[in-house]
Amino acid sequence: MDNDNRFVTGLDVGTENVRAIIASVNKEGAIAIVGYNEGPSAGMRKGVPANLTGPAESIDKMLGEAERMGGYEVRSAYVSINGSQILSTHTEGMIAVGTVEHEINPDDLDRVEDVSVTGRIPANRDVLDVVPLEYALDGQGGIKDPIGMSGARLEMRANVISALTPNCENLKKATLTADVKADRLIPTVVAAAKAVLTERQKENGVAVIDMGATTTGVAVYEEGDLQYVGVVPAGSNNITNDLAIVLAIDPEMAEEIKTRFVTGDFNSEKSPVIRVKKEGKVERAFERKEVEEVVMARLEEIFQEVRKKLKSARYDQRLPEGIILTGGGAKMRDIDLFAKKCLEASVKIGIPQNLGGVSEAIAKPEYATAVGLAMLAAEQINVAAPAKKSSSKIKLPKIKGPGFLKKIFAKF
Ligand SMILES: Nc1ncnc2c1ncn2[C@@H]1O[C@H](COP(=O)(O)OP(=O)(O)OP(=O)(O)O)[C@@H](O)[C@H]1O
Ligand SMILES: [Mg+2]
Repeated sequence: MDNDNRFVTGLDVGTENVRAIIASVNKEGAIAIVGYNEGPSAGMRKGVPANLTGPAESIDKMLGEAERMGGYEVRSAYVSINGSQILSTHTEGMIAVGTVEHEINPDDLDRVEDVSVTGRIPANRDVLDVVPLEYALDGQGGIKDPIGMSGARLEMRANVISALTPNCENLKKATLTADVKADRLIPTVVAAAKAVLTERQKENGVAVIDMGATTTGVAVYEEGDLQYVGVVPAGSNNITNDLAIVLAIDPEMAEEIKTRFVTGDFNSEKSPVIRVKKEGKVERAFERKEVEEVVMARLEEIFQEVRKKLKSARYDQRLPEGIILTGGGAKMRDIDLFAKKCLEASVKIGIPQNLGGVSEAIAKPEYATAVGLAMLAAEQINVAAPAKKSSSKIKLPKIKGPGFLKKIFAKF
């Protein structure tokens, strides 16, 4: 392997599955997937750790294979954080910077950011990122990058993404128990967006909906910036559970019916009976109409909750590039058709593409988060430390306050 390459790892700790991506990053910053793996998760509830040993063991077990494939021992990673605890708060701040001739410098940006964040986020929350949305100089707004511009009064409007401190700490502890240091925690849906969105989509207005097992994340981008993040505390497992209850069957059979027989194209002509035979058991037959009614009701409910989130962010039916679905729940056949109807927007499935290495195997919507995490980690490597010859160890800078993050990582 080229010695100029460095390695990054994306670790998606889901409620149902953990997934890892190991990627090499070349001098130009291009990444190639060298290792990947997925495995069942344990000890997670609705996207957050319910204990430490469960997630740690799942991560440890799953990582071994990815490490062997990539020929690289993972010591640190960008890690997903999830759950309805994730909040997006829009804040504003203002500072005096001197006389009108003063040219705005990075220190001024740090200062106005501190003013915008301090005291606006409850003390029991960790700030995961501060996304500058707009600056104003002496009352004139609409400025994206004020560095070098002149003015005496600098104002900032920002989107502050935060999560409950205990959840962040527990996630970091869980990964550390598996000997992996969490360099950054990134909301699951935000990482997924990194892997599946183009710059043009982000500029024009687009949303990503990550349909996990127990959560459905929503991220909205416009003018190139992350405008909103929110998480609905329900996901594709709710469909399985509903089927198990209504049809009085075990969850394994319900899962099989969901993944093998249900499609989002509910009104199309299909055989009216679904027949399932589990090994060693007698064949069971179910009325398709009944199955579809259960699935439709739950999906409708989830999409209505998503719409509420989009409405609260004032983006409902206002996204020129439509909606992109990721996560394991997006694998339901023709789910885009049903989502389109419920959300009244154009809908596509988001698949991580155009990556080097063994990327074909991970070109699936459920890998979007892990891939996005690796991509974000790769970006930081290139900003933080240009690749040195014969170095294969990642040397990431220590996590500092939001001012630092903004400079190296302004746009998710
Ligand atoms: N072919 C399929 N059709 C429908 N659903 C599917 C299919 N394949 C997987 N799923 C569902 O996807 C879900 C798992 O998705 P994923 O791995 O993204 O969840 P997770 O990341 O572990 O959960 P979360 O993000 O909520 O913590 C399960 O509910 C599973 O039933
Ligand atoms: Mg997930």
